[in-house]
Parts: sequence; C-alpha cells; structure tokens
Amino acid sequence: MSSTTPTIILPTRHYQSTTDNDMNAIVRQMLAACQCGDIKIIHELGSIIPNNNNNNNDSNFVNYYCQQDSETGISPLMVACQVGNLPLVKTLLDDPCRAPWNAVCRHYRKCAGDYATDNERWEIVQYLVDWATRSELILGTIHKQARVFNDIEPDRQKKGGNYNNIPIPLEEQSSTKVDYLQQKVTYNSDNTTLIDEDKDAVMMEWERPIMKAHAQILLEDCIVKDNPSANKPRRVLNIGFGLGIIDTILQEEWKPTIHYIVEAHPDVYRKMIHDGWDQKPGVTICFGRWQDILPRLLLAHAGMNNNLEFDGIFFDTYAEHSYDMEDFHKLITTTATTSCSDGSSSTCTRTPLLAKPFGIYSFFNGLAPDNLFFHGVACNVVKLQLGTLGLDTEFLQCQITAPANSVHDVISSKTWEGIRRKYWHGRDVYYLPKVTWNQEFIGRKTKNRNINDNDNDDIHNNKNDDDNMMMDIDNDNHKRQRR
Ligand SMILES: C[S@@+](CC[C@H](N)C(=O)[O-])C[C@H]1O[C@@H](n2cnc3c(N)ncnc32)[C@H](O)[C@@H]1O
Repeated sequence: MSSTTPTIILPTRHYQSTTDNDMNAIVRQMLAACQCGDIKIIHELGSIIPNNNNNNNDSNFVNYYCQQDSETGISPLMVACQVGNLPLVKTLLDDPCRAPWNAVCRHYRKCAGDYATDNERWEIVQYLVDWATRSELILGTIHKQARVFNDIEPDRQKKGGNYNNIPIPLEEQSSTKVDYLQQKVTYNSDNTTLIDEDKDAVMMEWERPIMKAHAQILLEDCIVKDNPSANKPRRVLNIGFGLGIIDTILQEEWKPTIHYIVEAHPDVYRKMIHDGWDQKPGVTICFGRWQDILPRLLLAHAGMNNNLEFDGIFFDTYAEHSYDMEDFHKLITTTATTSCSDGSSSTCTRTPLLAKPFGIYSFFNGLAPDNLFFHGVACNVVKLQLGTLGLDTEFLQCQITAPANSVHDVISSKTWEGIRRKYWHGRDVYYLPKVTWNQEFIGRKTKNRNINDNDNDDIHNNKNDDDNMMMDIDNDNHKRQRR
C-alpha cells in the first residue's frame, strides 16, 4: 500500500453543515469504501449531496465520485484501479456523475490509469484506455464545433496557473504558442539546440536517433538491397526544418530524388539559405506555414500530368495544437476535384499528397509526453482519427537514450542547461508512428498475405524490415522492436 493511501474513516452519513474539513472527511469515507468495495456506501456518497458550505444555496452540490483527497489528490477512481475492482471502475465512470479519468494525484502526478498499470490490472487498463479514447474523441469533436461556431481559443490544454487550486507544473502546461512565428529563435554556437524567446527548446540534438529512425521508415521501402539501379524514386516531404537533423539524414543516407521542406519561421529559413539548403540535390524549400503552402502547391499541380505526391511524409512542427495535426492529416489524404491550373474551365482530380498505395507517413510523437498513460490514450486517438481517413497506424517501439529526468543526473542537467522546461521526462521508449494506406480501404490486396507470394508489386515483407531496423539502430546503440 503506498504512503498516499487514505486513512479509513468510519462513515458518518448524517451531517448538518459541510466545512472543507467535513467535506474531505466524506471524501475519505468514499475512498475507504472504494478500497474495500463497499458498494452501498459508495452509492450513498455518490448520490448528489447538497453542499451547505455555500450560503445554504441548494444549487451547489458535491459529487463525491469526482472529489479528490485535498491532501493527496487521490480519487475514488484511482483507488478502484489500485485494488483492481473493475465493476467499481465501470460504476464510477459510467454513472451520470462521471468520475474524471484524467485527474492526477498530488505527490506523484499519477492518474487512475497509472494506478491500474502499476498494479498490473490489465483488464482495467484496457477499459480505461477505451473509455478515455472515446471521451477524448467526443470532447474533441464538441470543442472543434464550438471553435467553428463561437470562434473560441482552440486550446483545451492546460495553461499556466492553477487547476483545482493545485499549481500546474511548468512541464505540464500547454506548449501551444500562437505568437511563435513572431518570436525570435536562436541556434546555439554548435548548432545542437534551437530555442525560442521563452527559452523553450524548439529542437535538440538528443533527438537525432529518433530522427534517424523516422528517416529510415520513410524511405527504406524504396531501396532495393544490392541493386541500386532498381531503386524506386524517393519523393519526400518534410514539414518543419528545426536543426535540419532529419533533412540531413535523408540527404546523406537516403538520397531523395525529390525533397520538399516546408518551414515557416523566418530565422530558420534564413539559416537554411545560409547553410546552402537551396543548393542541395532535389531540395525545394517552401517558406511559409504548411497550412498556406500545401493548398497552394496542390492547386498549382492540379491538372498537370505530374501530380504532386510523396513516398514519405514527415510532420514535426512546433507550438501548434493537435487540431492542426488533424487538419494536416486530412490535407495529405484528400483526393479532390479542382479546376485545372491550365486556365481551361475543365476540372481535374488530384491524387492525395501521400502516394497511393505505398506512401508512408510519420510524425514526431510528442503527444502528451509527461504521462505514459495519457500518451497511450493520445496515440490511440490519433490512430482512430487516421483510421477514418483510410490509414493504418502502428507504433514501433524504439529504445532510446533520452536525457533522464533527474536533477542529480549530470548528463541530463547538461542536456537541459539553459532550457526553460523539459519536454521529455526520461522515458527511454519512443513509440514511432508508421502510417500506411489501409490496403483494403483502397481496394488492394490485404497486408497479411503469404510471404512466399512473389508478386513484385506487393508491399514489403515486414519481417525483413524489422531485421533491417534492428541492425541499423543497434549500430547506434538504439535498439528498436515492434510493440
Ligand atoms: C521541432 S522543429 C523540427 C525539427 C526537425 N524535425 C529536425 O530534425 O531538426 C519544428 C520546426 O517547425 C517549424 N514550424 C512551426 N510551425 C510551422 C508551420 N505551421 N509550418 C511550417 N513549419 C513550421 C518551426 O519553425 C521549426 O523549425
């Protein structure tokens, strides 16, 4: 039992006035009842109770399914997860009172899903992930509609300050910045860090192995081992230049035939030109936000015989909202009929930017990085969203030597020196998204075909790919395996 387990207080249902102390006593009764699975008391306390603390105004009610211990931050759902009581988890989540799935405790900042995971309650973990994913999808839809109709700030993420009277650690605050492109950004002298005006890191050198793995999955299928003359064209689109790590790896190791880079920040663009990126083989730099550039490019190419499409697309921007990434996904997968750019009145169909059927898409997976459970839910949400666009997503597990979290760790403190907040918290597994067209969705053969089938036009054999990646990444001491 952890030190955060609440003291058991005998239930005293009848009370006249509710001070904060009294309220917390009831919260603790609720926690104790959850601990021993006393469903009668849980139902009693879970039914809505008037809070007489608020000037006898009966419209103020306390819902004890949703309360957290004022000292520890432990919630009924966390206790239910800790003891592995699935029926109780369902009651707390499905009851109209709805216990929040994403509340975190004070001392460890763990959510209910962490309590279930730590105690290996796998059935509960699965239930919570499904529940949280559905709830995020619904909330996201509602929020996006509100954004369209009410023109509200598109940020459901936590801003600075307090949440439920608890200060939100800097690392957990929203990293969306509407003014990022107006800020000055600075490269350090050895070009290993790019920071913005708030001293937040836009990109850091420690991510190189991650970028190497991304570059590899984007273009490896276009290379024919031992027979370079049989290599396929390698058309790649990268959104966000940063330190140019992935673009350098692409150039040096994968030699793209066409290499588009979209970059919106003027300081970064200046650096690209200074370093001669406009002169590199196959490179086209598009200066501007992808939101403006890509529709223009698509329009310009509509009706031309050379539709603009890419075998590999990588997305890694900064300070944007997850809704932007959702918009990006729609943009690269849309088949549209537009008026032709040749001046005639005829219409042309343009193919999606992600080449069909074998194009590969990936993005830097920094989704909800400060909590593994939230990260898992966020990955699941994106996977479902991509699924509706006809794409399959798998998350490849990469072992990385990420800068550790501890202030006592010398390497870690050196890595983060001068950086206002860490955006990675010592997790040494990176879940690399590999996104492909769903072959059934686009009317092709399914993926699970016999590997002895010698149809040259088939998608590659996954087993060999894994071996290649393991070898490559092992060389750099960064193992990677399938999930
Ligand atoms: C994290 S860095 C990219 C790092 C890069 N993957 C590398 O390997 O070095 C993000 C970059 O995206 C750029 N960016 C941010 N918003 C953008 C947008 N809407 N369109 C294009 N680029 C954007 C930033 O200026 C920054 O250079």
